[in-house]
Amino acid sequence: MAATVRAPTAPSPAAPARTPPSPTAQGAVAAIRGSVVDVRFEHHLPQITSVLRTGIKGEIVIEVMTQMDASHVRGIALTPTQGLARGMQVTDTGLPLRAPVGKNIISRMFDVFGRAIDRLPDPEGVEWRSIHRVPPPLAERSTKSEVFETGIKAIDVLVPLERGGKAGLFGGAGVGKTVLLTEMIHNMLGHRQGVSIFCGIGERCREGEELYRDMKTAGVLKDMVMVFGQMNEPPGSRFRVGQTALTMAEYFRDDEHRDVLLLIDNIFRFIQAGMEVSGLMGQMPSQLGYQPTMSTELSGLEERIANTRAGAITSIQAVYVPADDLTDPAAVHVFSHLSASIVLSRKRASEGLYPAIDLLQSNSKMATPGIVGDRHYQVAQRIRRTLARYDELKDVIAMLGLEQLSPEDRKAVARARRLERFLTQPFYATEQFTGIKGKLVSLADSLDGCERILADEFKDTPESALYMIGAISEVKKDGAPPKGPAPAAGATSGSKGPAPAAAAPSTPAAAAVAHHES
Ligand SMILES: Nc1ncnc2c1ncn2[C@@H]1O[C@H](COP(=O)(O)OP(=O)(O)OP(=O)(O)O)[C@@H](O)[C@H]1O
Ligand SMILES: [Mg+2]
Repeated sequence: MAATVRAPTAPSPAAPARTPPSPTAQGAVAAIRGSVVDVRFEHHLPQITSVLRTGIKGEIVIEVMTQMDASHVRGIALTPTQGLARGMQVTDTGLPLRAPVGKNIISRMFDVFGRAIDRLPDPEGVEWRSIHRVPPPLAERSTKSEVFETGIKAIDVLVPLERGGKAGLFGGAGVGKTVLLTEMIHNMLGHRQGVSIFCGIGERCREGEELYRDMKTAGVLKDMVMVFGQMNEPPGSRFRVGQTALTMAEYFRDDEHRDVLLLIDNIFRFIQAGMEVSGLMGQMPSQLGYQPTMSTELSGLEERIANTRAGAITSIQAVYVPADDLTDPAAVHVFSHLSASIVLSRKRASEGLYPAIDLLQSNSKMATPGIVGDRHYQVAQRIRRTLARYDELKDVIAMLGLEQLSPEDRKAVARARRLERFLTQPFYATEQFTGIKGKLVSLADSLDGCERILADEFKDTPESALYMIGAISEVKKDGAPPKGPAPAAGATSGSKGPAPAAAAPSTPAAAAVAHHES
């Protein structure tokens, strides 16, 4: 889209000087089609990305997207256009969209225009910066290759995240992206120096409010900024809110030299908003109806999430995968920007194996012996091999039964099922509805547990004893599942109810194994 093209030459300095609004900067609405507004200017044509204001009280905000001819611009409204009519006066502010930055934005909640939406007065002593910036040049970037511990067993062991990297949580509707993201915020805030910025794009408004309240109760709001452009907002607003959040992140990195954790829920909604804007502007769609400029728009945003010598921006992004299809162009484009991808699987979710991480499909570029060390690498490889073997055997088990397997394969199946159970974890974020207390597990404990399971130390322990525990030392000898409300068996996938039981067999293969166990 043309709007992303204009940008200042330096990465962090303020926006380029713009002509201040003058009496000649007045135009009139020429046409309105939904969010798309054409404005006629007699004397002076506003620049691309300039903000225009109109409406009775100047409450309607329009961003210029294209200059159509010598006297017309076409823009997209970032606010609802109700009440707008042809002929209404429009003022060119001469300024791009701007975000407030400064110490006082911490612990506050903003919308795309940088207005406080937490029912408190607007923060004082802030500087306003253009949200349109270019990524830092190659010469200023830096990489560290340091692991970022999350306290979540499955992630730390199999998909170690990179400090200053970008991680994606891929999944279809209702497989646990938001829960996992919330859990990560919870786990990291306590023992981290730095600022966290949460950016909600096009998701439920309720979730934003809940998160704000949760963070406030947990006392972690003091290191956090929240920015929301949720699904009730017009597409233009959802399309720009990511840039608003990034501008704040860049301020903390470049001016305060602090490490930033940027959480985005959900980056797919950014692509979707771009698609809507593109459609409204009359551009021809590309594959599957996506905008032809998707890749440019996405890299414009993703490339700004970078590490420089001043500081690092670590980012974790939820990625909605339409129809659970990982080959969807949106998912594919996001994949290419990430250093770790955590794929959530509906099948695991339906078995109650939360976090429903598909352990074989998820990967991280940090999972190499040079970075995580030889022992960790070997453990991760052995877990993958065991799980892959179990996957291959599932069909045979379903058709012929476990008895037909060789003793070696039977052992592999028992090991794999215990590993799968051990890699589940009770979350703080789900305490209210699972009734099980959340657990944070250190990498050392996680590795130790996996190693001991791989060494068949727990082959006589019922697998349910490993389900929803923290460290392996919590295994109960009687195999009683953790306390909590009795979970319902055979939960439907994508249900928003409480976590179903993992111990309950839900596939023929699982049933066969469970039968064998008893
Ligand atoms: N770790 C977990 N433990 C127990 N239950 C979970 C867990 N993760 C997810 N769930 C269940 O799955 C439901 C949906 O999770 P969540 O809202 O995170 O999904 P989502 O992927 O963000 O969905 P959407 O795409 O609709 O935003 C939760 O309400 C909860 O019932
Ligand atoms: Mg969600």
